[in-house]
Amino acid sequence: MNGIPCCLPMSSTRQRELPAEFRADDVRFSEAFAEHVIGRFSQVGDVVLDPFAGFGTTLLAAEALGRQGYGIEYDESRARYIRGLLARPERLVHGDSRQLDSYPLPAIDLSLTSPPYMRRNDPEDPFSSYTQPGRGYAAYLETIQAIYSQLRSMMRPGAHALIEAANLPGEGGITPLAWDIAAAVGEVLTFEGEMVVIWEPSFGPGYDHSYCLVFRKPE
Ligand SMILES: C[S@@+](CC[C@H](N)C(=O)[O-])C[C@H]1O[C@@H](n2cnc3c(N)ncnc32)[C@H](O)[C@@H]1O
Repeated sequence: MNGIPCCLPMSSTRQRELPAEFRADDVRFSEAFAEHVIGRFSQVGDVVLDPFAGFGTTLLAAEALGRQGYGIEYDESRARYIRGLLARPERLVHGDSRQLDSYPLPAIDLSLTSPPYMRRNDPEDPFSSYTQPGRGYAAYLETIQAIYSQLRSMMRPGAHALIEAANLPGEGGITPLAWDIAAAVGEVLTFEGEMVVIWEPSFGPGYDHSYCLVFRKPE
């Protein structure tokens, strides 16, 4: 892994306070993390896409660093919230990344996201923001692979895609989500390795670290 550190100690503190309606479901990574990896893997002026934009951390960090931040977010109220914060609100699409290649996006220099997580036995579909019944864990992994297959065709040669994911403790044992995503997406993009992100302070028991998976479209 050329120049990619194996371990990344990182502040987990989110600087931006969410509106009260969102606080019970704060699924964000920290601004410090987004700024660090965007700075490391892209240049000023580059196009940075978050296909699961959440509360807009990637897009806001991209704008702050002089990149062009684009995103897709399924949840309408989150999409509206992000648009209210962006200098270029039209770059956030309220949509569905399962249809990623149907959106008119420019060529992508970097993608950074944390996808909606799934444990092996979760009944809901994460790609509907947990609003619809799921088709199981294998179907979840097939879907994420299909999304990144579309993304591949939209990335510039040599561009990186970064996925922040954790292995998830739960009642039925640990779901090795990060490793399963690495294997699934590694079928469509070159897997260059992972950075172990050490979150300080910890996000809670079992969540003191996660993985920033590094993929690349071949030149
Ligand atoms: C883990 S959160 C991302 C948080 C983001 N990294 C941040 O710091 O704000 C995942 C997001 O993906 C969204 N999502 C779920 N299914 C989606 C889909 N099919 N297309 C686009 N967004 C989706 C969820 O609504 C959620 O906001």
